[in-house]
Amino acid sequence: MEEHLTVGRVAELAAVSVRTLHHYDEIGLVPASARTAAGYRAYSADDVERLREVLAYRRLGFGLGEIADLVDGPTADAVAHLRRLRGLLVEQRDRTAAMVTAIDRELEARALGIRTTPEEQLKVFGAQLYEVIGSAYPATRRTEPRIAARIWDALGDARTVLNVGAGTGSYEPPDRDVTAVEPSAVMRAQRPAGAAPCVAADAGRLPFADRSFDAAMAVSTVHHWPDPLAGLREMRRVARRVVVFTYDASTAGWLQRFWLTRDYLPEFAGLLADRPSLADMTRAIGGRAEPVPVPWDCADGFFEAHWRRPEAYLDEQVRRAVSVWTRVGPAAEQRAVNGLREDLASGRWAERNRDLVALDAAELGLRLLVA
Ligand SMILES: C[S@@+](CC[C@H](N)C(=O)[O-])C[C@H]1O[C@@H](n2cnc3c(N)ncnc32)[C@H](O)[C@@H]1O
Repeated sequence: MEEHLTVGRVAELAAVSVRTLHHYDEIGLVPASARTAAGYRAYSADDVERLREVLAYRRLGFGLGEIADLVDGPTADAVAHLRRLRGLLVEQRDRTAAMVTAIDRELEARALGIRTTPEEQLKVFGAQLYEVIGSAYPATRRTEPRIAARIWDALGDARTVLNVGAGTGSYEPPDRDVTAVEPSAVMRAQRPAGAAPCVAADAGRLPFADRSFDAAMAVSTVHHWPDPLAGLREMRRVARRVVVFTYDASTAGWLQRFWLTRDYLPEFAGLLADRPSLADMTRAIGGRAEPVPVPWDCADGFFEAHWRRPEAYLDEQVRRAVSVWTRVGPAAEQRAVNGLREDLASGRWAERNRDLVALDAAELGLRLLVA
């Protein structure tokens, strides 16, 4: 019985009642494959693995009947379940962040005496991250020419280019035949007139045949995909060349690299805890990673862009165009901003970061993956 756990121990570890476990056993959802000498249910490692899947789907709101179909379905191996669960959880986390933002907005509107319409009130339930924060995007997010030059150079002689997670199309090369993929209606609606045609689709399931494009590119988007490696493999499938602009958060001490995460927003680490490593992402496309230093006057207001212009982070408009600030939640955001404001006023920020003033570009872990 060594490798088995008793029903009481499993209940304790999984924070469910023994009654629940008995019920799952009786309906055949998670049968205990053994009994102790005293006749109690006992769970093997495989039983526990199945229970873990069942409880995770339960937590995501699935009914027991649906769960039975899922765990006994054709993709019943543990890795497939973990991937699917991970995707669902990431989606749920982002949706929760989007709902918090939508509610904050309604609270602000009410404080100003503005009543939201019934349509606006119901929108909170369908909130997707970029459906809520997307309208703030164009204010500070635009093409940074030095980064664009690197991306376009990496595209080589590609004539047809697929841009995945294209947003408003900031980095679409003007001299090639571009097709964009963008799941958010808000982002699609903000694409400028004359921008490349845009398909509503998800990186994880690109609606194109193998080798449909000379190249596929993805800029500042992979960290939003529920399953980044599956999306990267999709890019590899539909194009003969792949170019990805992303960041490396897998090296030890990366949190210390940028003063904003190091001193004010360590919560950023929590957003990346389950992200694949740079090596895994590079392997998924079969390519190499090149560092991309961030110029001090970077025109695209992404998270790291204002490393030498710290006052920018006090600006609500700058923060709203970067999803990190919404995803960490309003409490962490306020604390970080207040801390930074105080340190700028007292000279503490300048004291701690005096080496930065002499730099024209900073290595903050941004990478171009090229295959
Ligand atoms: C930070 S924006 C980057 C947009 C654009 N590539 C740029 O550089 O300006 C991230 C984009 O990824 C999109 N996105 C989120 N989840 C996605 C998914 N599963 N598949 C494809 N795109 C996704 C968002 O809707 C958003 O437009």
